[in-house]
Formats: sequence, C-alpha cells, structure tokens
Amino acid sequence: MSDHAIPTVPLTDAPPIPLVGLGTYKLLGRPGAESVATAIRSGYRLIDTATRYSNERCVGIGVADSGVARDDITVITKLGGGDHGFDPTITAARESARRLGVDRIDLFLIHWPCPSLGLTVETWRAMLALVDDGLVRAAGVSNFTVDQLQMLFDATGRWPVLNQIQCSPALPRQDLRAFMSEQGIHAQAWSPTGRTEGVLDDERVARVANAHGRSPIQVALRWSVQQGIGVIPKSADPERQVHNASLFDWELTDDDMTVLAGLDLGEAAARDSHVDEEF
Ligand SMILES: NC(=O)c1ccc[n+]([C@@H]2O[C@H](COP(=O)([O-])OP(=O)(O)OC[C@H]3O[C@@H](n4cnc5c(N)ncnc54)[C@H](OP(=O)(O)O)[C@@H]3O)[C@@H](O)[C@H]2O)c1
Repeated sequence: MSDHAIPTVPLTDAPPIPLVGLGTYKLLGRPGAESVATAIRSGYRLIDTATRYSNERCVGIGVADSGVARDDITVITKLGGGDHGFDPTITAARESARRLGVDRIDLFLIHWPCPSLGLTVETWRAMLALVDDGLVRAAGVSNFTVDQLQMLFDATGRWPVLNQIQCSPALPRQDLRAFMSEQGIHAQAWSPTGRTEGVLDDERVARVANAHGRSPIQVALRWSVQQGIGVIPKSADPERQVHNASLFDWELTDDDMTVLAGLDLGEAAARDSHVDEEF
C-alpha cells in the first residue's frame, strides 16, 4: 500500500472505521480466506461480509490467519431478509458471530429493508437490543431510503450508525446522503467502482485518470473518499487490493469533481428498496 495509511471516519456512538474496506462478495472457501488475510496484511482494517454471501466463516478464518490483532480489525456483517423479525434477528446474530468466530459483531446491518415482510421496525428493535446486550457493538442498515430511515427513528428514537448504499459517480445519491449527513449516519458505498453503470469505460473518467497518472477505478474510489463516503471495493487479487486503497497521496481537483458530476444517471437508475428485496 502507499505510504499514506487509510484514514478513519468517526461514527456516532461507535468507534471510527476506515474509509476503505474490503468487499467480499464471491470470496469463498480457503482462497477467499487467503484473500482476506492478504488484504489485512497489506493494511486493510475493515472487512465487509453478509450472511447472504455464505462466507462469514471464510472471513473469520482470514481475520484470524492475518496475524493482525482482532481488536484492530472491524468486521461488518449483515442480516438476511429471511431472518427479519425480533427473535429470528437475535438468533441470526448469534449464528453470524459463531460463523465469524467472534465474541462480538463489530457492525451488524439490516441488509435490505424488505418492506413487503412488514417486519422492518421489529427487526430494528432487535438490532438495538443486540447492541444493548453487547453481542453487537453497533447497528446499521443497508439500502435504506430516507423514509425507511425515518421510520426506524420514529419507532425507536435511534438512527443507524451507517447506511451502506449503492453509490458511485454514476449514482451519487445526493438527497439521500444529505439527509444521512444531517442525522449523523455515515454513508458507505457498495459497488463503488460503478463498473455496472459504465463508470470505468467512460472517456471523461479516463481523461481525469490520465491527468493524475491513476486508473479509472482509483478515480471512481477517490471520488467517494474525497467526500467522506466509505468504499468497500472487492478484489481477490493482492495487487489490485493495494491499488484500490492507494487513494490518499493525491486528490481530485474541483474541476475534476465538476466533470465527474456529469456522470450522474439520476436516482431512478439506483436499485429501488421499496420494490427490490433480497431474502
Ligand atoms: N449492501 C449491499 O446490498 C451490497 C450489494 C453489493 C455489494 N456489496 C458489498 O460491496 C462490495 C463491493 O461491491 P461489488 O463486489 O459488487 O463491486 P466492486 O467492488 O465495485 O467490483 C468488484 C469487481 O471488480 C474487480 N476489481 C476490483 N478491483 C479491481 C482493479 N483494481 N482492477 C481490475 N478489476 C478490479 C473485481 O475482480 P477481482 O476480484 O478479480 O479483482 C470484481 O470483479 C461487495 O463485495 C460486497 O461486500 C453490498
């Protein structure tokens, strides 16, 4: 990794977390555990997994094998849609902790709001009970819209510490992020390279990248971290892992940010958590 270590960002009511973490979707088995351990040895201190990725055990082994102290690493995992509801959430947290091989889950997120189940608030109450009981250090969500976040607060008086959202220069989620910022909810971007939205093939991104002697992927990731948005790019490859975290010894200019603002596909291009559900 470059000389510039990954900075951390403060969370409300939880320890700070790094701005760059490792995504682990599709990392599986022993090779997956090796990728996690390699990332940690190269400087990553934040790992993102989920029950749905079927790799919590693999992440736990990677963390243990890395040689870095467990307390220096933050692991995020997520509750699947099939475990919504108060009691199922409590049971699922215990199962996730067991698979991860940890005494306490650092950050536990509701993966998708899944409104058709009608259990979102009850599930959030269980997440907060897990925090109060100590099995979970901090509770957050993923893929929640403004009204879905507000619903949690109205029912419990407590906001999630972070919301992991689909976000990249093509999907800047301005209104959602502005609301989250007002409430002290950290924004963390999934699929932050914007590869599915064409960011990496865009000639404007290529021009900005060339001007800085960087790659399009680094421009996409730097666009997020420069605004305080966390990123969790996934790579199984040790060199690409280092490349993706080498974002802190250079910066995008205001003109670059103006050019990148032109990539915005509009909110309608993002996945809609009112209809889109994952169980
Ligand atoms: N909360 C949610 O609903 C949600 C949804 C989607 C994803 N996520 C999380 O976000 C993470 C990241 O999202 P993602 O995995 O969809 O997409 P991504 O990180 O934007 O892209 C990952 C892909 O890019 C490749 N890649 C990474 N770095 C590269 C580099 N420097 N050069 C060339 N190729 C590179 C990877 O291949 P290699 O591995 O071969 O390098 C992989 O195919 C996931 O792993 C997961 O942890 C969360």
